[in-house]
Amino acid sequence: MNESPLYSRLGAELEDKKSRGLFRTSGPSPLGAAVDMATNSYLSLHADPDVQSEAEYLADCCYSGNLASRIIETRSPLFETLEAELAEWKRTRCALVFNSGYVANLGMIGALCTRQTEVFCDRLNHASIVDGIRLAGATLTRYRHCDMFDLKTRLAASAKTERLIVTDSVFSMDGDIAPLADICELARRFRCMVMVDEAHATGVFGGTLSGLVEECGVESGVDVVMGTLSKAVAGLGGFFAGSTALRDCFVNKARSLIYSTGLPQSVLAHDLAAIRHIRRHPEAGRMLLAKARRMRETIRSLGFDTLNTSTQIIPCLVKSDSEAVELSAFLLSRGIKAPAIRPPTVPVGTSRIRFSLCSGHTEGDIALVTDALTDWKRSHG
Ligand SMILES: Cc1ncc(COP(=O)(O)O)c(C=O)c1O
Repeated sequence: MNESPLYSRLGAELEDKKSRGLFRTSGPSPLGAAVDMATNSYLSLHADPDVQSEAEYLADCCYSGNLASRIIETRSPLFETLEAELAEWKRTRCALVFNSGYVANLGMIGALCTRQTEVFCDRLNHASIVDGIRLAGATLTRYRHCDMFDLKTRLAASAKTERLIVTDSVFSMDGDIAPLADICELARRFRCMVMVDEAHATGVFGGTLSGLVEECGVESGVDVVMGTLSKAVAGLGGFFAGSTALRDCFVNKARSLIYSTGLPQSVLAHDLAAIRHIRRHPEAGRMLLAKARRMRETIRSLGFDTLNTSTQIIPCLVKSDSEAVELSAFLLSRGIKAPAIRPPTVPVGTSRIRFSLCSGHTEGDIALVTDALTDWKRSHG
């Protein structure tokens, strides 16, 4: 038994989380759920046979093992091909692949910002953005969620000359979307750079499914497009899309890129195969969003608060942290996997079930969920 004060404090923190119903586990996922609404594989490409066979073909052309940081050793042509196709898809000059979305945000924000930079950050932005700003030592100014008046007021009050506005395009826990056109307009007026995290929009929004930046037509106003390869692409990795100068900046300064071994070939092969599949099937996003609209309307009609979602992510608010856990367990007993999301992932008092709708879900799956929610409402009010 370790008796150090540090170890004791960790134990006390975990006990505190348990007593407040906030303790998390990471054991094997419960088996037997017929309907899985917990994944971010929005286009159900994690098990798509076409993607799988193309990925196998692409991976076959390369060695299977790993080498070093990309700065030291980049013998795989898959990096170049993937980045060229990402840039073409995102309609930017170039792209750069990182090992995950989390480290892409950390690395890019760290490369862009110093202590002289003020970063204006939506209150509900992903944790990786906040961590990146803190690690960079930049001034973190959080504005009220999607509130352009608050953002404008804070920009006007800022004494810094170097400014960056960062926003998720689709918010991961609320499922609503950022007012990108307004943000770009404010950035222009206040001479800021703009960075948009397209983690949950890539593969779902836009005529070619490249994201909300495309859908809103604000490509020219966004300096840094960030995306992940772990949501709709159902693989692994994060990426930058933008100018050559910024790519050079990240290759030279992004510590999470420079000081970490690159992704293995099998992963790059999956990512590339999935992106090609998405680009060949641009109708998939529209169909998913239409299905999500029907599902959220039904859930709302049952009396649940689904916040301001207009996407495939459907939050379903409950009265307490413990009710979120109970409802998640109840859903599982009905064959539905949907996670309870509690603080600190979401603000205190907004615990919820997060339904993540994917292309593979059928109308029957959705009915299973809404029937279960109906029964829950009947017994819990
Ligand atoms: C908005 C947002 N950005 C970044 C990330 C991190 O991406 P990854 O899972 O690829 O590390 C996530 C992951 O949940 C996210 O929701």
